[in-house]
Amino acid sequence: MRLVDGRPTHRVGAAVGGAAAAACPVQPISSSRRSHHGKAVTTRQLAALSVTVDHVPCPQPEGVWLVNSIVQPGGVGGEWPDRVAAVRRELTKHGPPRSPDGGPDFATVTLPESDCDQVLDLLVEERVGTVVEIGLAYASSALAIGEALLRTGSRNPRHVVIDPFQYTAYDGVGWELLRNARLDDIAELVTEPSQRFLARLADAGFAADAAFVDGSHHFHNVFVDLHFLGEIVRPGGIVLLDDVWWPSVGAAVAYFETNLGWRPLPGALADGTTDPASGRPRTGAYRLPDPRPTPNFKEFRPFC
Ligand SMILES: C[S@@+](CC[C@H](N)C(=O)[O-])C[C@H]1O[C@@H](n2cnc3c(N)ncnc32)[C@H](O)[C@@H]1O
Repeated sequence: MRLVDGRPTHRVGAAVGGAAAAACPVQPISSSRRSHHGKAVTTRQLAALSVTVDHVPCPQPEGVWLVNSIVQPGGVGGEWPDRVAAVRRELTKHGPPRSPDGGPDFATVTLPESDCDQVLDLLVEERVGTVVEIGLAYASSALAIGEALLRTGSRNPRHVVIDPFQYTAYDGVGWELLRNARLDDIAELVTEPSQRFLARLADAGFAADAAFVDGSHHFHNVFVDLHFLGEIVRPGGIVLLDDVWWPSVGAAVAYFETNLGWRPLPGALADGTTDPASGRPRTGAYRLPDPRPTPNFKEFRPFC
């Protein structure tokens, strides 16, 4: 763990060259990385491994790494996912280990258990290997995503979690829970606003199979998040959003649906929570077009 601005933080170790390197305050690239068992893995070995991994569809471009990324030749499995499930159950049953003074209320901010289960099932079905998540809070969704990453059997699971307020508003409780589940072996916490960080992540050529968006709910921030996720999530990958029932979130994703070919996944997340008033589901799931579209501004379609 490093300290940035006096706060503990984990950062994505995206090693980038040239101008991007200057702009990206990330942990310097090392020529070797630890495996899950502490054994050093050279970048050359890793590059060789990544081409043999059949169900990790997103090998990263040369020189783009996650510091905590691990490689398991036989895939991740065993008791680890069960341990994550146990931490999830404990959180659902008893709430977070502590609530920071004046901190956000757990029941209000966290993704409900049934929605977490839906997210987990969908990500396992999609066999994701790399997920970008926005909004850690008390880690309900992050634990479900981490469990999914382990259950897919990926040899190189990666989870990038972005939340600028994890230590200022949540006293680090969400990250602590991920550590209790040992998910810090596959996850990185970035403590800066997603709408700033994602631009650099995209610039570095980082690729993900899926993203989960539950950060700032301001229209402009969600819109910027989705714009950069459209570059980061591979063509044919998926983007999941919480709170699409809020007009600010729903309007942002409507642009991508109406103009950029993002397709709602029919039936996905259908058994999750719904708005009691309107009956609308709280979460949404979208498949990105493959190949990426090159839209014509003259064909812009108003979206809300
Ligand atoms: C509704 S909570 C997320 C709940 C979480 N998914 C869970 O299941 O516990 C929203 C989170 O987004 C974070 N957030 C707010 N603005 C953000 C931003 N600009 N970038 C990233 N995260 C942000 C907040 O600190 C908060 O932790």
